[in-house]
Amino acid sequence: MENKNVKLYRGLQGVYFDRTQTTYIDGSKGILEYRGYNIHDLAEKSTFEEVAYLLIYGDLPNKKQFEEFDSQLKNSRNLPKEVFKVIETIKESHPMDVLRTIVSMLASYDEDREDNSVEASIRKGIRLTAQVPTIVMAHHNIRNGRIPVEPNNNLNHAGNFLYMLEGNLPSQNAIELMDKDFILHADHGSNASAFTARVVSGTSADIHGAITAGIAALSGPSHGGAAENVMQMAKEIKSPDNAATYVKNLLSNKKRVMGFGHRVYRAEDPRAKHLKEGVKKLSEELGQSEWYEILESVQKAMSPYSRRGIHVNVDFFAGVIYYLNGIPQDLFVPIFAVGRIPGWTIQVVEQFQHNILIRPLLNYTGEREREYIPIQNRE
Ligand code: CMC
Repeated sequence: MENKNVKLYRGLQGVYFDRTQTTYIDGSKGILEYRGYNIHDLAEKSTFEEVAYLLIYGDLPNKKQFEEFDSQLKNSRNLPKEVFKVIETIKESHPMDVLRTIVSMLASYDEDREDNSVEASIRKGIRLTAQVPTIVMAHHNIRNGRIPVEPNNNLNHAGNFLYMLEGNLPSQNAIELMDKDFILHADHGSNASAFTARVVSGTSADIHGAITAGIAALSGPSHGGAAENVMQMAKEIKSPDNAATYVKNLLSNKKRVMGFGHRVYRAEDPRAKHLKEGVKKLSEELGQSEWYEILESVQKAMSPYSRRGIHVNVDFFAGVIYYLNGIPQDLFVPIFAVGRIPGWTIQVVEQFQHNILIRPLLNYTGEREREYIPIQNRE
């Protein structure tokens, strides 16, 4: 029954569905730019707040614009008290499920509720950028029987995020590495979660709905879930000497090595090297260099696959950084979401700016023209 004249693009692989002015990716050369700025420059020289502004407004902020944006973020970190009650009732759920639920709930409390204009959507996206870290850490504290740690406005986005884990002031190095991690995760074109957010906004639904759906898409192991699995893998490998055999076993059982491969990159993911340097520095500083050595051995064992375009991706080194910062494994995907809110925001805004319903086709391969038999006559 299948229509053989149809050209199928399963997974929409290689399909361009719109234009963008936000993020440029050249997968064959391993180039990533936000608004024309190379990711290497941004990772080395910028801050998450500045990158969030850049993504949302298109240009780097001047000093005054930066200060205004920064205080807008800081002033939006608190959550309505009703949110904490809901977190309490669902505290046993995975942090991504809690995050998805609370982001959806925040739509009802937003001061721009029911205003889907571009301007209001930007304001909502900025508020969500500030609120998401508070949600993740409030849940973490509540599930551990503690009172959530209040946001600390003397700290930047990354520092406050780490601070809210347990109320301890993080080291400058830990803050800088977290900041870099958020910059590297801030946007990545039409990845699965951003595409999902665009599909939702393509119907002119609101940004809270679009980001809620984006969070759901991000949670899977083929997308944001990989960092958690890489950490699990590193724990199972235990020593760099075991890495080659571990990888060989995975591949001979047709399993994937987490933190490797990418739909777009055939060269190395340009984000990975910054996190690799971070893991090396942090694990040596903490006297736990075995983690870096394990990851390096896995990378070496996977090197023959680079000929097939399978290289490390951003998630390979991220998990160990979080682990060394004392962050539990199930918070690794939410950290990705914390960094990604500005990206989802601008993807939704771009969609709104020249909106079109996203509605592709499916090639039907089932039965046709079947006779309807009343239930009493069915076997
Ligand atoms: N380990 C071993 N083999 C792999 C891997 C891997 N990680 N990734 C791809 N391959 C092989 C795959 O088995 C297939 O081989 P064959 O042609 O012999 O069947 C070939 O490479 C092409 O794979 P694919 O699944 O068609 O490629 P894709 O573009 O659909 O998959 C991916 C991309 C990210 C889902 C996949 O590489 C993967 O599952 N990686 C592991 C999970 C991971 O690290 N995800 C994080 C992605 S980066 C951050 C983000 O965007 O969220």
